[in-house]
Formats: sequence, C-alpha cells, structure tokens
Amino acid sequence: MVASLDTTFLDHSYENPFMNASGVHCMSTKELDELSNSKASTFITKSSTSVKRAGNPEPRYRSVPLGSINSMGLPNEGFEYYLEYATKYQKKNSKANPIFFSVAGMSVSENLKMLRALQDSDFHGIVELNLSCPNVPGKPQVAYDFELIKEILTQVFEFFTKPLGVKLPPYFDFAHFDAVAKILNQYPLAYVNCINSIGNGLYIDAQNESVVIKPKNGFGGLGGEYVKPTALANVRAFYTRLNPSIKVIGTGGIKTGQDAFEHLLCGATMLQVGTELCEEGVTVFTRLENELKEIMDRKGYTSIEQFRGKLKSL
Ligand code: DHB
Repeated sequence: MVASLDTTFLDHSYENPFMNASGVHCMSTKELDELSNSKASTFITKSSTSVKRAGNPEPRYRSVPLGSINSMGLPNEGFEYYLEYATKYQKKNSKANPIFFSVAGMSVSENLKMLRALQDSDFHGIVELNLSCPNVPGKPQVAYDFELIKEILTQVFEFFTKPLGVKLPPYFDFAHFDAVAKILNQYPLAYVNCINSIGNGLYIDAQNESVVIKPKNGFGGLGGEYVKPTALANVRAFYTRLNPSIKVIGTGGIKTGQDAFEHLLCGATMLQVGTELCEEGVTVFTRLENELKEIMDRKGYTSIEQFRGKLKSL
C-alpha cells in the first residue's frame, strides 16, 4: 500500500483523519486512555457541563439494525474532570497530537463560564462547542435557534482566542444551510463539525409493540447508517458555503473505508466515528485506515488532498 492518510488540520499534521465522535468511548479516563493508545490520530472528550451529571434513566442507548438511537441526557464527570485529564495528558505526551475538548453547557452563561476557564487554563488543544445536544428534556437545541447561535458566538469571541469549532445538528433545507453559513462566516471559527445525531427519531420494537429506550418515551438521536446521506449533505453544504479558513469535520455513518472516502470527497478534513466505534471498539480505527488506503490505492491516489472536496456534479 502506498497511499498516505496524512491530514493537516489547523496547521498540525496527523497520521490519519480518524478520531472518535464526542459521546462515544470518552466518558472516563480509562476510555480516553484507550483512544489515545488506539490507531485514532487524536480524540475528543465527552461533552461536559460545569457540574457532573448522571444523565437520563437507562436504557438510554440501543444498537439497532441500521445504527443506533440514544437519549443519554449528557451524563458526564463534570468540566474539571476533563480539564484535569486533558492538561495532564498534554504534559505527559508533549509530542502528541492536539486533542479536542467538548463543552455543552445548558445555558449561554454556563458555556461562557467553561470557555473562560479553558481560555485561562494551560489547555492548548482544540475546543468544540456543542450547539446540538438533542436529549435534555426541556432544552431545545441551540443550533436550531439562529439568533441564539449569533448571541453565543458573539459573546464567546469577545474573549476566546484558542482554536474553537462548533458541533452542528443536521439541517434539511437550503434556506437553513445558507442562513447558518452566513452567520458562522462572521466569526473566526476553526471548524464546524457536521453532524450530531438526527434528533428525536423513534425506533419501535414491533414484536413487543414498544419503544426501545426509556427517556422521552423512546425518542432519541439517530446515528449510523440512517444518517450518512444527511451527514454527507451537511458536510458538502457547509464546505461549499463557509470561508475556506473554516474546516469541516465529517461525522455521521462512517462504518467503512468507503463511507470515510465519501465524507472526504464532500470536503471533510477530520472524520469522527460514533455508532461504529460503540459497536466495534477502538480496533475500528485500524480497519477504517486499511479500508480507506485500499480504496485510494485502487484509484491511484497517494494523498487525501488529491480528492478532498472534489465531488463531481452531473
Ligand atoms: C448527548 C447527546 C448528544 O448528541 C450530544 O451532542 C451531547 C450529549 C447526550 O445525550 O448525552
């Protein structure tokens, strides 16, 4: 195999584009250590809130034939736990790739508080502001309220100078792609991450005439094969609308090397794996790298740059 998966993201060179999607395999220091020892080129922490949360009642994640449904409800060990892990990790692994830190406050002020603490900390990785958690009862997704996106980003960039990206939910209309891209282009964002789960789907077990997860009467975010075409559309829509300085991370339905290849064709730079990482464990990264290299070899590509973003129209 001659293909190289080298990926430059925010001026740093990674061995490959693969990492976990926030929420999967990144809640505890044990899971984070497993990611750091895997073939993923970097990793992201579970979205944190200021204070530790237990999350929604179980069962709250189910693997289903074409993917997954979850309504975790933001269980996490609390902001300080992840900040301590991240800063210790950086000290211990001074030559390691920059890591990602996800925050998902329940209010504008909670997000600002965590981002101020990150700004004032020794953390020198990349921060992902999650604007798209669909699973906290009574808390609509920030990113479906365009005025609120503006309000929060305006306040964040009054003080925040470290690299910052936003995790977006899927959008389903050109008017929304246009409106959101126009807002995001007004800020010095490092990247957008498309997509979070398709929020509030309903999976039914017909045999038992029942839902399959407990919270919210069975409604939950969909991941896996269900979401890939929506994810590709969002990656493509934002890649073609955003300032070129704003990179796109592709997340959604990456189960095979071909799925990864398709995300890259749409313009993604890094690639995050959620549902399939949960299914397969951290060895998924070795398989995905081999499968992507095989496709590139077959097509005669030696680097990702040769095809990134170059999806053809008819
Ligand atoms: C949760 C789910 C998400 O999709 C997200 O972005 C953040 C948190 C959750 O339910 O824990």
